[in-house]
Amino acid sequence: MGRVQGKVALITGGASGIGLSAATLLAQEGAKVVIADFNVDAAVEAATSLKSQGFEASGVFLDAGKEESIKEAVEFTVATYGTINVLHNNVGLTNLRKDLDVINMDLEEWDHLMDVNLKSVLLGSRFALPYMIKAGGGSIINTASMAGFAGDVTRTAYGASKGAVVNLTKYIAAQYGKHKIRCNGVAPGLILTPAAEKNMPPAVLDIFGKFNALPYHGEADDIGYTVLFLASDESKFITGQTIQVEGGHYGNNPTIADFTDYMFQVQAKK
Ligand code: NAI
Repeated sequence: MGRVQGKVALITGGASGIGLSAATLLAQEGAKVVIADFNVDAAVEAATSLKSQGFEASGVFLDAGKEESIKEAVEFTVATYGTINVLHNNVGLTNLRKDLDVINMDLEEWDHLMDVNLKSVLLGSRFALPYMIKAGGGSIINTASMAGFAGDVTRTAYGASKGAVVNLTKYIAAQYGKHKIRCNGVAPGLILTPAAEKNMPPAVLDIFGKFNALPYHGEADDIGYTVLFLASDESKFITGQTIQVEGGHYGNNPTIADFTDYMFQVQAKK
């Protein structure tokens, strides 16, 4: 008996990185998963691979910036597997070139990131909730980001959208809890997914490494296992929370890395 045996799960942005990890772990633990992604070939390929290993999965096209497309992904899930018990609102975009500081950022990019990162969470939930209510409960899991908890010198729209995802998570939890629908978030720190490795120069990875409490970077499965836990009944009394999975990066005094260097220098002089 798997940890999410028989549950039907829709994972947006499920063809790569964090979404692919969540889809794989959910399928391995007994869920029927729908992998919805802009890259439909990769979504179908991932589902085919899971099926060849004896798990239940389907791939479908999704443009998370379009309301109709989100509706279609939810409808596809229900048409294929009869209901929807778990929704992982995972799609999120970042743009290092256009999403800058408040004065210089591109306003069209602001709107685009708000649509894909935030409105898609509202819409995915809006379309899935009636089926979850009918099914007698469900679990919605939103991929936020540690960027939603701290200020930064750039990526204003990304941080603002993810901060709003954290609060939207609480509103969904408050509004539908009596229907036994839980809504939680997971806020990754830097996770070495294809997107992060493409966007982050090695020097930036080194900076993150220096400020992590733990001596290694996060991997997609670190988030996938959190999603699995939140999807399962093991977390049945947890709702409205966003779990920070960030290697102790933000939980420490921000001076800690520099202070450690300073202490080494003091010791060396003794
Ligand atoms: P990824 O690029 O590896 O995977 C994202 C998937 O979403 C891809 O398969 C892509 O085709 C799909 N996608 C992109 N735009 C889409 C759209 N408009 N409609 C449907 N699908 C679309 O990304 P990763 O790193 O796994 O990120 C997943 C989530 O985790 C995002 O919400 C991201 O903001 C968040 N996150 C990631 C962190 C990291 O360090 N990797 C850190 C904090 C948050």
